Amino acid sequence: MVEPSLNLIEYISMNKKKNYILPDLKAARVRTPGDDAIFRTDFSLPEATVDLGKGRYYFIRTYGCAANERDSETLAGLFERMGYAKTDAMEQADVILLNTCAIRQNAEDKVFGQLGAIKQLKRNNPDLILGVCGCMAQEEATVNLILSKYPQVDLIFGTHNIHRLPDLLLNAVLSKERTVEVLSNQGEVVENLPAQRNSRHKAFVHIMYGCDKFCTYCIVPFTRGKQRSRKMADIIDEVNQLKTQGYKEVTLLGQNVNAYGKDLDGQTTFATLLEQVALTGIPRIRFTTSHPFDFEDEMITVIAKYDNIMPAIHLPVQSGNSDILKLMGRRYTREHYLTLVDKIKTAIPDVTFSTDIIVGFPNETQAQFEDTLSLVDRCQYDLAYTFIYSPREGTPAAKMEDHIPFSEKQKRLQQLNERITYYSNLNNQKYKDAIVEVLVDGPSKKNDDVWSGYTRHNKLVNFSGEGIHCGDIVQVKITEVKSYSLDGIAINNGETNE
Ligand code: 5AD
Ligand code: SF4
Repeated sequence: MVEPSLNLIEYISMNKKKNYILPDLKAARVRTPGDDAIFRTDFSLPEATVDLGKGRYYFIRTYGCAANERDSETLAGLFERMGYAKTDAMEQADVILLNTCAIRQNAEDKVFGQLGAIKQLKRNNPDLILGVCGCMAQEEATVNLILSKYPQVDLIFGTHNIHRLPDLLLNAVLSKERTVEVLSNQGEVVENLPAQRNSRHKAFVHIMYGCDKFCTYCIVPFTRGKQRSRKMADIIDEVNQLKTQGYKEVTLLGQNVNAYGKDLDGQTTFATLLEQVALTGIPRIRFTTSHPFDFEDEMITVIAKYDNIMPAIHLPVQSGNSDILKLMGRRYTREHYLTLVDKIKTAIPDVTFSTDIIVGFPNETQAQFEDTLSLVDRCQYDLAYTFIYSPREGTPAAKMEDHIPFSEKQKRLQQLNERITYYSNLNNQKYKDAIVEVLVDGPSKKNDDVWSGYTRHNKLVNFSGEGIHCGDIVQVKITEVKSYSLDGIAINNGETNE
């Protein structure tokens, strides 16, 4: 346990929150036009926290999407700046942080299960600090549940104030009182935060935060707040720094990257940003997620023009039926989506598509579900993330009556998954005997003797070869094709077929 020095005690009494700051879903829904994000570039570690972690360990478990992964890298960076060391063993940790996801109920259930398991660790080590952050922490009902039923949780903070980790942790450690600070305002953009990145050759780069689309099923606009784009110069600086450090790939992150810049000066678009990122010369650029509504022609032109923008586009469709799309608030029809896919294919002939699909939206009929299947037949996706609709409290869809039994939704999901696997397998067949370019991630998770990495089209390749290092870009001849991966042998020279 940290022995508080006199100035630390003063610090705590000055900063101590008498009341919890709790989430407020109503406030989280507010979007005031003209109420721009506040940009802060002045982050510095509070002096009192500089040695807080000396001789101590932190453990972070991340749930959910790439935005959470990237936030956890910032949280790890903050821990390291406070002198904490990382541990992969929960039992060794002095602080455990669960960075949570609220997108579906099963994501939340996993976290509650974990909180139960940690209770025992807390009994063994009463000084252990257990924190919950991320999207679940932004939900009113969830926080109330944690406060009433999970006394083992010491610290709760949300997605808007991860930079406050040092202060909040100090408060929790020294005051030995529960610390809760969840903001539901429209948000800030905080630059210059430290980051402990998980990979030395692939990096996630936030280009924006939040979402203003309010699809009727989705909790994200509530948990992540108003859309706030980072300034282009800050993003380009980050990419240039990564390139100098030897990074080979960046993935530009946002809930809806195509809307990048719409909250800035009105001049900056995602196409402009993407072109500037391409011009940095970083070898591989990906971006996620694109909303079909904002996918403008200039974007297609830029993707087609630059070889370092990967020709694999994630374009969530959600449903193949226009009436369901309308109820979902997606702002496009089946026909508009298909026209967009065709337009992209014409401009970028070797493009591949992946998507997200929800089955069992309230009262989705069998015929409407079959429209989704026929859209899959038409688009022949390389990959799809498929989900059963999960009602999220506070969203408009959660108030819709639903007469479709869950067992029926499960049946539809299975049928959809079979169709998706069929096309994934079919698309992979063309790689048999082909030579592809692979960015090496490291030894394969299943077999240490084999390397693994991803192609330009985001295909997982497991391959053998000599003199290979993580972060290399190598040519691999494909020898065997599976539904969701390819096997091969590295070759020294050769033309790629990609
Ligand atoms: N239920 C099921 N799936 C959802 N998604 C978002 N909200 C829900 C929900 N309430 C899916 C969408 C989105 C992906 C990230 O998660 O398909 O694109
Ligand atoms: Fe959710 Fe729609 Fe925003 Fe995606 S675009 S985060 S699905 S509200």
